[in-house]
Amino acid sequence: MAAKILVTGGTGYIGSHTVVELQKSGYDVVVVDNLSNSNIEVLDNIEKISGIKPTFENFDLADKAKTIDFFERNVGIDAIIHFAASKAVGESVEKPLLYYRNNLVSMMNLLECQLEFDVANIVFSSSCTVYGQPDVLPVTEQTPRKDAESPYGNTKRVNEDILSETIAANSKLKAIALRYFNPFGAHPTALIGELPLGVPQNLVPFITQTAAGLRDEIKVFGDDYNTADGSAVRDYINVVDLAQAHVVAINRLLRGKNKSNYEVFNLGTGNGYSVLEMINGFEAATGVKLNYKIVGRRAGDIEKIWADTTFANEELGWKAEKGLEETLLTAWNWEKKVRGIK
Ligand code: NAD
Ligand code: WQD
Repeated sequence: MAAKILVTGGTGYIGSHTVVELQKSGYDVVVVDNLSNSNIEVLDNIEKISGIKPTFENFDLADKAKTIDFFERNVGIDAIIHFAASKAVGESVEKPLLYYRNNLVSMMNLLECQLEFDVANIVFSSSCTVYGQPDVLPVTEQTPRKDAESPYGNTKRVNEDILSETIAANSKLKAIALRYFNPFGAHPTALIGELPLGVPQNLVPFITQTAAGLRDEIKVFGDDYNTADGSAVRDYINVVDLAQAHVVAINRLLRGKNKSNYEVFNLGTGNGYSVLEMINGFEAATGVKLNYKIVGRRAGDIEKIWADTTFANEELGWKAEKGLEETLLTAWNWEKKVRGIK
């Protein structure tokens, strides 16, 4: 019988791509999402790609009674991938309590249910935001974490601690925390992708919305950083590559290949690209010219970060494979599909 995986936040951006990859690998997937940042049609589009509509329940994982009720009715879950969280950095500064409640309480509810209902394994969506601006690049998993720049970032750090301390105290639990760098792009079918609510905060959706005519121009936040062209540098990772890393992490836990009960992996490409390189890359990949303007730095932004991927490559046997331009093209194809552009 196929192992059963609970994917929280499975109708969201990274979750939906991961559901497809899990299904392709033969896993039986159950999605829980409260649709606070995604919509129900994603399930039909997952089915169009994989041929399988995942089982779905709509409730808030910060609601303990509903979470217990779910585990009572869904016996035999082998592992959880916990994507569900609020993720808008700016909103978290304005509404810190919303972020702490949603992101921390959901995590604690899941862990308590894991203990009560004997679900041994969990993979957690962490973020390179826990490193802040590192003193040394590239960033390894041993690079010290720094104080978070936002309540959102702090929820990732605290959730990592909740997870590692709970695992240290309970030998029947095992976890892998995956620190994503900057996910981008969409599924090659253009059936699923990133759907930000309102004005996008992240660079790639802002680029594609500008190309689609929804935004007048891209604001490049700073050209006076200590980088080759002065704009800030990030490690952008294709969302399907990222999704596949989750399947590898699940395989590792279920096959008992983990070296300790709490493991952490960086998920990036190992390459840094600047904001201007992203804009140029988009133009080269799509042939669409972009309007952009250099403005001042964005508060809270770091200058540059990219991953050392050695540990993930060697220990997980996983490597990001897809290139910058091909991924930017998938982001554009998705934007065109959403906006009805031919
Ligand atoms: P997303 O908003 O597209 O997906 C998250 C999903 O979780 C949404 O569908 C939302 O409706 C759901 N959700 C939120 N709170 C919930 C709750 N209490 N109960 C049930 N469902 C809930 O975000 P994403 O980009 O797919 O990110 C997934 C995870 O990866 C998040 O934990 C995020 O913090 C983390 N992460 C994202 C990035 C990024 O740049 N996208 C980078 C690093 C880490
Ligand atoms: C990338 C670069 C911007 C928009 C954020 C979160 C982080 C993580 C990923 C979850 C930066 C520049 C952006 C624009 C721009 N999420 N930019 N004009 O800031 O690396 O990380 O998302 O954990 O926690 O902080 O990603 O896509 O917002 O920005 O010039 O309109 O693009 O200044 O240098 P970031 P981003």
